[in-house]
Amino acid sequence: MNYRIALIRGDGIGPEVVGEAVKVLERVGKTFGHTYEFVDVLLGGCATDAVGKSYPDGTAEKCRACDAVLLGAVGGPRWGADKPAEQRPETALLAIRKDLGLYANLRPATLRPAMIDACPLKTETAQRGIDLMMVRELTGGIYFGRREKYETDDRGVECADRMAYSEHEIERIGRRAFELSRLRRRKVTSVDKANVLETSRLWRSVMHRLAQEYPDVAYEDFLVDNCAMQLVRDPGQFDVLVTENMFGDILSDEASMVTGSIGLLPSASIGDRAPGLYEPIHGSAPDIAGQDKANPIATILSAAMMFRYSFQRAAEADAIEAAVDAVLAEGWRTADIAEPGVTPVGTRKMGELICQKL
Ligand code: NAD
Ligand code: IPM
Ligand code: MN
Repeated sequence: MNYRIALIRGDGIGPEVVGEAVKVLERVGKTFGHTYEFVDVLLGGCATDAVGKSYPDGTAEKCRACDAVLLGAVGGPRWGADKPAEQRPETALLAIRKDLGLYANLRPATLRPAMIDACPLKTETAQRGIDLMMVRELTGGIYFGRREKYETDDRGVECADRMAYSEHEIERIGRRAFELSRLRRRKVTSVDKANVLETSRLWRSVMHRLAQEYPDVAYEDFLVDNCAMQLVRDPGQFDVLVTENMFGDILSDEASMVTGSIGLLPSASIGDRAPGLYEPIHGSAPDIAGQDKANPIATILSAAMMFRYSFQRAAEADAIEAAVDAVLAEGWRTADIAEPGVTPVGTRKMGELICQKL
């Protein structure tokens, strides 16, 4: 096949990790007989620098003309909160997700066999294994509600961020979670704050209605604070976790560390039509950018998810994941996952090692 892939390299370590994922894609292409047309798309702080806007006109159209999008990361201190919204990289990331209709963000947190020692939890907890899929709602909630900032008479400035969810938004992400669980261990844990939030009470009632439609799937509700605790107490209990946008953002960073490092965790952002967008869950890591230190595995595994979810090519996805596991099993580590005494390899070397296994 010939695949047209939009590359949003972005800021900080984004270009470094995307570079390695592209090498892996090329290598997979040789092995499996695919070719690619890569289309560079400017988005984020680098776009602000180049054209004055983090989300240049025509960005969504360029992506829609592709079969899938691969994104590194955007953001950095140079384009911080003091900048107007249209110059902030994060504004662009939210806009592309919304414009492409990518309401479902799949974030699999897997403790890879070679990484059991890197799990910061108790040995017996790690040995039980961790293989969960966080299904994060991505185009609703507080991320997309009205923002307000105004002067009060007596309390200084006041700000508000509105959090809203419709039944429609909840139902479509819920269905994704239940359907996915049928390909896994048939268990869905819905995470909310229904003891406080109205949006969560609606969330819970819709999830309960869906649970009736999937009697073959075990279903439970967890409050988000308890879930955050359970993720470090016993993450092996979870199969599919489904939750709203901000809870999913926070819990997935937590889940990543439990499985070794944020540098390992990939994601797929998908909607009802192509293209899907594939991105590591980490950010632009300004503290290590440009130093060949970043772990490219999260982005490489995101490319594997691209094969699985956008191209319906499980063999290629399996091959990439197996190559990553093989390199880790040989003891190769980037700095974020290196035990004391182990000399880490750089971003490029890790990419090369993974290519060699393909
Ligand atoms: P971050 O994920 O960029 O970094 C957090 C910590 O994890 C840092 O110490 C960093 O060095 C480390 N880290 C992250 N990725 C790594 C990797 N691949 N290998 C090794 N170490 C890695 O989070 P942050 O520092 O809070 O955010 C930095 C910027 O990134 C902010 O502007 C933020 O908005 C943005 N961000 C973007 C995305 C995205 O584009 N999808 C995601 C998260 C954060
Ligand atoms: C992520 C990031 C983004 C989010 C930011 C950069 C807008 O943290 O992809 O996890 O909160 O969704
Ligand atoms: Mn995040």
